[in-house]
Amino acid sequence: MPPKKKVAGDAGKGEKLFKNLCAVCHSHTAHGTGPNLSSIVGGAVAAKEGFSYSAALLGKATTKWTEGNLDKWLKSPADYAPGNSMAFAGVANGKDRADLIAYLKSK
Ligand code: HEC
Repeated sequence: MPPKKKVAGDAGKGEKLFKNLCAVCHSHTAHGTGPNLSSIVGGAVAAKEGFSYSAALLGKATTKWTEGNLDKWLKSPADYAPGNSMAFAGVANGKDRADLIAYLKSK
């Protein structure tokens, strides 16, 4: 049997999820309650100029956002960076997270 393929995210679905779940705090053009998320995939963690990050997320600032650690962050922000200031429980469904990450990659 061939190895199980990782299901690719669907950016179109991710855009809808983003509007429903994230857009209240985030855009790709300006800071809101959360930092602007332009080019966030592959970008440095907690490094957007002019945004005041929590010490918890700044503690991860030596790393870059990859699809892998974004998946962990979006699954449970509180577990990924305990004490962070993103007031968001997380996205339980792995396919939804993959769709969100595909959308973030496109922005
Ligand atoms: C209630 C407001 C709120 C919601 C909803 C929210 N966020 Fe956030 N987000 C924040 C805040 C505030 C931070 C900064 C956290 C910190 O400094 O601890 C953040 C940080 C982030 C970061 C890290 C940015 C960086 O510069 O390193 C990513 C990525 C992110 N959010 C993605 C998302 C996604 C995707 C969603 C929707 C699934 C979402 N957020 C929902 C407020 C929110």
